[in-house]
Amino acid sequence: MRDNVELKIVEVKAEDEEIIYKFCDGLDYFPSAIMHDVIDNDFGKVFLLYRNDEVVGIIDYWITFDSSTLAMIYIDEKYRRLGYAKKLMNFMFEDLKNEGVKFASLEVREHNLSAKSLYLSLGYEFINVKEQYYKDGEDALYYVKNIEPSPLILAIESSCDETSIAITRNKKILSNVISSQIEKHRVYGGVMPELASRLHIENILYVLETALKDASVMVEEIDAIAFTRGPGLVGALHVGLEVAKTLSYIYDIPLIPVHHLAGHIYANEYVTELKFPLLAVVVSGGNSELVIMRDHLQFDIIGRTVDDAIGECYDKVARVMGLPYPGGVEIDRLAKKGRATYKLPIPHTQGLYDLSFSGLKTHIINLVNSLNMKGETLNKEDLACSFQEVALAEIVKKVELAAKNFNVKQILVAGGVSSNSRLKEMLHNIYDNSRIELFFPPLSLCGDNAAMIARFAHHLYLKGVHASLDVGVDPNWEITDFNDF
Ligand code: KG4
Repeated sequence: MRDNVELKIVEVKAEDEEIIYKFCDGLDYFPSAIMHDVIDNDFGKVFLLYRNDEVVGIIDYWITFDSSTLAMIYIDEKYRRLGYAKKLMNFMFEDLKNEGVKFASLEVREHNLSAKSLYLSLGYEFINVKEQYYKDGEDALYYVKNIEPSPLILAIESSCDETSIAITRNKKILSNVISSQIEKHRVYGGVMPELASRLHIENILYVLETALKDASVMVEEIDAIAFTRGPGLVGALHVGLEVAKTLSYIYDIPLIPVHHLAGHIYANEYVTELKFPLLAVVVSGGNSELVIMRDHLQFDIIGRTVDDAIGECYDKVARVMGLPYPGGVEIDRLAKKGRATYKLPIPHTQGLYDLSFSGLKTHIINLVNSLNMKGETLNKEDLACSFQEVALAEIVKKVELAAKNFNVKQILVAGGVSSNSRLKEMLHNIYDNSRIELFFPPLSLCGDNAAMIARFAHHLYLKGVHASLDVGVDPNWEITDFNDF
């Protein structure tokens, strides 16, 4: 069981004045100066550290272009030596990386030994003494820390039926434009590969222009161009690749090839730091895999579907039920109103962590067809609910087994089906009070999008992974190929 302490870092807003005045009561800090940084100082940022519902710490810093200064950091005396100051400082460093800051400075009182040792342990270096810096005449030591450069990444995703381009710096998403083709494919009841490629060609330059405009960035400023190299539809992937190569060639910017499923997994990094070993549960339209990660960029597939992907199964079941494409979201919605009254076969697989959905799908197709032939009515809500209960229970069973056997610290759910409300409920019921942390990407990053591609590309960039201009797409690219990097 996890202990019951929940730590949260929350930005201070104008309406939090009372909280700031109460927290500063009896301290040397002027609450009015802090509120000035919140309200009037465009360069100031102030955050509070909450321990459950109690404010236990504060950090106030200024960012001016590519440099930053720590104005103050304070932790309630009752909560010293718990690593809370370090937590706030690390939070600030992460934010500085997002903002493209190159170095951070601070002044510390000469006698403040614990603060000095904290700053040195965080990588600050002593620069000089500022004599009689403080009002009481005490000298200040001036410390500076270089901030690891965070690349500005432009990422392109075009593996299926979404044309998406994002611009990110570290975990800050400056733009993430997604042009969905779903409406155009709906009439065919699924994605038509040839149509997908054509629509990508029609849309991609507009998406590019919008992404640059939304982010207020010029191509010349970009440090790397990332693109989805695979898996996916070959023609669709090619459109993204050609745009990536053209930008790379004209502007002399390195290219980074990204695996689509790695992108889905790394979408979770916008909400949490990854803790290894972790179990990634990839549930999308084209793939269903259980992946163990022992470190960044290290993927070990321990189980996968032996036939259909879960999303594909959702879509095909929805189609036979007369629901529009893509069917996952429709089944999710209908199932909430139904009961699991239909008796459906439980999938069976040889592999301990493998999955199988085609038997279940075929059974439902036959069931619906035979009801239609007999002229009997189908209770769509109940069938949607029955299908979901069986299919998702199968995934949850394998997840539980793998999480236990591999002793994982985190479970990250990824891919389009990660937005399913029942899957969330089932997994939260199991893991909310467990030592294993469970995460889903934010809803906006569950489906295909380029921000997730940029997130994985960020790690590849730091490792120096680039592709040459003769790189091609790989519609069947295995995620384990990244283990060589
Ligand atoms: O990850 P994704 O956007 O595309 C691939 O890379 O495959 O996944 C799309 C799949 C579709 O099959 C869609 O029906 C399914 O995700 N999906 C859902 C839900 N929302 C989307 N499946 C179940 N419940 C949902 N709420």
